Amino acid sequence: MQDDIITLRVVRRDAHTNEIAVIDLAAVDGGELPAFEAGSHIDIHLDDGMIRQYSLSNPPGERHRYRLGVLLDPASRGGSQAVHERLHEGTEVKVSVPRNLFPLDESAPHSLLLGGGIGITPMIAMAYALQAEGRSFELHYCCRSREKAAFIDELESTFGDALVLHFDDGEPSQHLHIETVLAAQPADTHLYVCGPTGFMDWVIGVTQKVDWPKPRVHSEYFTAEVDTSGAAFEVEAVASGVTVQVEEGMSIAQALKAAGVKVNVSCEEGVCGTCISEVLEGVPDHRDHFLSDEEKEDNDQIAVCCSRAKTPRLVIDI
Ligand code: FES
Repeated sequence: MQDDIITLRVVRRDAHTNEIAVIDLAAVDGGELPAFEAGSHIDIHLDDGMIRQYSLSNPPGERHRYRLGVLLDPASRGGSQAVHERLHEGTEVKVSVPRNLFPLDESAPHSLLLGGGIGITPMIAMAYALQAEGRSFELHYCCRSREKAAFIDELESTFGDALVLHFDDGEPSQHLHIETVLAAQPADTHLYVCGPTGFMDWVIGVTQKVDWPKPRVHSEYFTAEVDTSGAAFEVEAVASGVTVQVEEGMSIAQALKAAGVKVNVSCEEGVCGTCISEVLEGVPDHRDHFLSDEEKEDNDQIAVCCSRAKTPRLVIDI
């Protein structure tokens, strides 16, 4: 995996609003970066073993930089604060090569891109990609106010009529009326949504209410609440020969780590997929946003950073 880690340098940092840092990372030697597709993210390796995912927001054809937009989120577990405090122009930082868990569907005749707050970042790269390919799309950006909106000048000048802005403090008529927007879409439109959990749950909930086909709904949670409530259970990590008790309030990963088992985790919020492990016995209580509904129904994989057990015992391949 270490082969996938590269050291980059912050070559530019701009404040978009007082809460959002827009950061350009480039190769230390100024050379070309690994290519990325729209929807990709990179893992930023911060000190203390903290790893956080950030979507790339620049045009996917670019090879000279990866551009991130990082919201200083007081509710976060320290990742965004560490980025804001430590990544200044000239700072070197270890990152993963880009990974795409949120790709565009190449067959879509029209793409509906919905970004809530800082969830606009992957949508910008998607809009650039669709525009470059001459494909039909519309980009909706929901924000608390124009003052709190990052990238706004660039979006307005680049995407013109394909951009629809929705400000919470604006006229009710310009708020996002998601049912109306969905009803107006051409046949076979694919929807992409990213933003705060409440925003995404709302949009996805409406798609379910109006029977929008699930294969045409694409989402990426960049942060999520982890619910570790529920009864204690036992986990046997067969490959390690270790059995642990997972108490309420702790995760399987934490219990295994405390017992000396190496567990690969990244986001620790059930959104990135790094910790997915095979389930050999028992029934998981899935609490992640990474596995699809179908994968969850199969019950043969589990996100050990957040999911729990419906049975008193789980056997997993760690
Ligand atoms: S570590 Fe990201 S899903 Fe578990």
